[in-house]
Amino acid sequence: MCGIVGYIGYREAVPLLVESLEKLEYRGYDSAGVVFPEENRLNFIKKTGKLAALKEKLAVQSYQAKMGIGHTRWATHGKPSDNNAHPHTDCTGCFAVVHNGIIENYLTLREWLQSQGHTFHSQTDTEVLPHLIEHFYQGDLIAAVLNTVSKLEGSFAMAVISSHEPDRVVAVRQDSPLVVGLGEGENFLASDIPAILKHTRKAYILNDGEIALIQSGEVKVSDWQLNVINKEVMEIKWEAEQAEKGGYDHFMLKEINEQPKALHDTLGGRIAADGSGVILDEIKMTPEEIKDLKKIYIVACGTAYHAGLVGKYIIEKLVHLPVEVDIASEFRYRHLVIDPGSLVVVISQSGETADTLAAMREAKRLRAKVIAVTNVVGSSVSREADGVIYTWAGPEIAVASTKAYTTQLEAMYLFALYLAEQRGTVEPGEIRKIILEMKKLAAKSQTILENTVEIRDFAREFAGCKDVFFIGRGLDYSVAMEGSLKLKEISYIHAEAYAAGELKHGTLALIEEQMPVVALATQENLFDKMVSNIQEVNARGANVIAFAMEGLKDVEKVADKVIYIPKTHPVLAPVLTVIPLQLLAYHTAVERGCDVDKPRNLAKSVTVE
Ligand code: M6R
Repeated sequence: MCGIVGYIGYREAVPLLVESLEKLEYRGYDSAGVVFPEENRLNFIKKTGKLAALKEKLAVQSYQAKMGIGHTRWATHGKPSDNNAHPHTDCTGCFAVVHNGIIENYLTLREWLQSQGHTFHSQTDTEVLPHLIEHFYQGDLIAAVLNTVSKLEGSFAMAVISSHEPDRVVAVRQDSPLVVGLGEGENFLASDIPAILKHTRKAYILNDGEIALIQSGEVKVSDWQLNVINKEVMEIKWEAEQAEKGGYDHFMLKEINEQPKALHDTLGGRIAADGSGVILDEIKMTPEEIKDLKKIYIVACGTAYHAGLVGKYIIEKLVHLPVEVDIASEFRYRHLVIDPGSLVVVISQSGETADTLAAMREAKRLRAKVIAVTNVVGSSVSREADGVIYTWAGPEIAVASTKAYTTQLEAMYLFALYLAEQRGTVEPGEIRKIILEMKKLAAKSQTILENTVEIRDFAREFAGCKDVFFIGRGLDYSVAMEGSLKLKEISYIHAEAYAAGELKHGTLALIEEQMPVVALATQENLFDKMVSNIQEVNARGANVIAFAMEGLKDVEKVADKVIYIPKTHPVLAPVLTVIPLQLLAYHTAVERGCDVDKPRNLAKSVTVE
């Protein structure tokens, strides 16, 4: 949801800014731009379209500037255009701002600025920022930025430079992420870690209400009252190569293939040496708190929400506690009744999704204890939650989430098993059995990844389709939802997931000759019912591709084609079932010539409401 970068130091800034923007392009790709000082003024270069278009525009000459800021946009206010592209400037052209977030009161501010004689050149909410800075500037950029901030409602991460003070980048944050990378004689700014990884492993993660003065030799962070804050330096553990494609055509395919390692790493250190139980001190709950639990809410968006649906199923099964799963943008606005004994679990790969973060804050305001499942160390949810379960998937760059989902599932299994053990709701023998099977998931997922010929064949068939249905029961229904989201978001084929038993209540009317139906049948206890549902669609002419657990042979009698998932404990099946569905979506999108890593209208990290 827009990427911000900044640099100040001894190197040529423009190529460095562009290279950093490349690492953030997953956050938005409607337009891009950079600004840097040149002969006592600011030079703005912006271009509609993907970053490649800006690179082409920049390629015609070289620029000597040793500092600058840049932006890659995901449009909210104002359609993608050169004028609406960031950086934005004021009437004098002396101030430049890049912004991520939404200034909710921008219309009022804009009208007021216009009444003061300011002229606007874009439809964006962002443009009020440089004009306000111009209005407040009296020889001190930091003071002008802070005065501006005091007028704002909404969310923002912004970086500001001025031709009046070309030795500094000012960065300020409220509800949108910003990271300051610390170098030797140079410093960096970015919305996310991959953009700085190549240059440094040391960073300050800015908090809400902080402002950073970034110069080549030092970085000073203070609150908005200018009280100095002694920030802790975060050591980044990710390898630079993890944020590269590493020989794959797309990040999505690379990340799908990284799942065995991600699953292995996420389990690491969390299983007792004798395999008898789970070690999960990081949730920071006392045995009493666990015993007193009455209800769990799981809150998330998109793919993470789908992981939450699996979480509900397994917590209810293993821990015997009621679980509600909510879409974060709904949870935050409903009239919540959170009784004592309620626990809220938020799931977010990025840890920065605006709705998830707001839902979490609402839960905390209502005095619920909150546990976060996230992939990004130092992300907002990780810092604000009472306990954190990290997924160790490494950076996920592709917009379509894959390894984050399977590791989120693993985190939910660990969590459910830990609670079950503490509350004595599952026999120790059964816990051992599930743990043993969890340890085999990495190898089994590898097997799936090594046998993709049939999936590619199906993808060729799917590429010409307009609609696809995904059906399943129980856990398979949750996975069907994820499979259908994957297909639609990257291939633009209309896909819907249905609880297989619900079809006959309306949707069956849509099934016609040759309509592809993906049927998931991994759950033995629901298998007969599922076979009947497959028969129902088959009888209406659907072309059924079934994904079934090894051993459930009868599915061959009713489906047109079957792919078997390696046998595992039924509760763990979603981790394996989803992988062929990810591959199916990926290869279908490639067949259709879609830009897999940058699907239209989307962005990776949704930091606006
Ligand atoms: O970073 P988060 O997990 O909070 O992101 C939530 C959703 O935006 C995300 O899962 C989205 O649905 C996926 N990119 C879809 O593949």
